Amino acid sequence: MICKIGVIAGDGIGPEIVAEAQKVLDAVGEKYGHVFEYTDILMGGCSIDAVGVPLTDEAVAAAKASDAVLMGSIGGNTQTSPWYKLPPNLRPEAGLLKIRKELNLFANLRPAYLYEELKAACPLRDDIIGDGFDMMIMRELTGGLYFGDRYTKEVNGCLTACDTLVYTEEEIRRIAVRGFDIAMKRRKKVTSVDKANVLDSSRLWRKVVEEVAKDYPEVTYEHMLVDNCAMQLVKNPAQFDVILTENMFGDILSDEASMVTGSIGMLSSASLNDTKFGLYEPSGGSAPDIAGLGIANPIATILSAAMMLRYTFDLDKEADAVEDAVKQVLKEGYRTGDIMPQNGESTEKIVKVGTAEMGSLIAERV
Ligand code: IPM
Ligand code: MG
Repeated sequence: MICKIGVIAGDGIGPEIVAEAQKVLDAVGEKYGHVFEYTDILMGGCSIDAVGVPLTDEAVAAAKASDAVLMGSIGGNTQTSPWYKLPPNLRPEAGLLKIRKELNLFANLRPAYLYEELKAACPLRDDIIGDGFDMMIMRELTGGLYFGDRYTKEVNGCLTACDTLVYTEEEIRRIAVRGFDIAMKRRKKVTSVDKANVLDSSRLWRKVVEEVAKDYPEVTYEHMLVDNCAMQLVKNPAQFDVILTENMFGDILSDEASMVTGSIGMLSSASLNDTKFGLYEPSGGSAPDIAGLGIANPIATILSAAMMLRYTFDLDKEADAVEDAVKQVLKEGYRTGDIMPQNGESTEKIVKVGTAEMGSLIAERV
């Protein structure tokens, strides 16, 4: 199979972690007889530096011409980087939001799973960890607060900022359908998260989710308020299977869920539209503080590449091989700094490695 992959290396640790995912993909190609053709696409701060905007129309066209896009991360230190002196629509994040919208990537899948081998890196108590947990956060990605009208202006001599949170029935329905479809392939439970005790958009969310749920009699579903969900994630994460939620809540809860699994460096993601196309990226950010040091964890990006093999190319066997290689490397005791045992847990048989070494170890085991 020939797979055309757009590659957005981006900023910060992006280029380092993407290079490792490509290394692993190339190992898959060699072993299973596929060709991965890469086209570099500029987005984020590096695009601002090169051409003055975070995402050009040519870059969008290059992404559309690919079967899938593999992405690292974009953005820099919001307090010190000159990118954040620019107007908001010219900052790195605007590029990411634009590509999601242009490609209609409304369904964001963020699996959070506790690896047996990483229990020692999990900040939760043993009795809470129990037998571990495995959840899928389904985040709506092209609507809500991140895409509504916004402004900052002076009103009666007082600076006033406004963001708007808009959802249509259709936008809610299509992500809910995806969420229930995925639940059918998992443990058949959906927790729909909203703030229906305050927000109109959440009350509509609840109504539409209830309608969609009627088509899935086998799926157990519940509604949960977002503040409670934030608490439940650290109190009893094993209760969750699919968490279905809107854009901002999903942004926040997925970071929280990732930390519960040990590190944000482990959390992959897929952003999908109605076709086979997808944009695959780690859920974590560009980590400018450790960029260029060769210590970032490439596993989330490698697992995102595995999601790409599975969802865009239907290469399940190859995706399994990548995921198994990751597990194998962890079992053998290799760790990047962020997933080292914590709280005085034993580091016997643990080998600390950098970004490139971790990538090579996984590639060799594919
Ligand atoms: C994420 C990121 C982005 C988001 C930022 C960089 C705009 O935090 O993918 O979770 O909020 O969606
Ligand atoms: Mg985020």
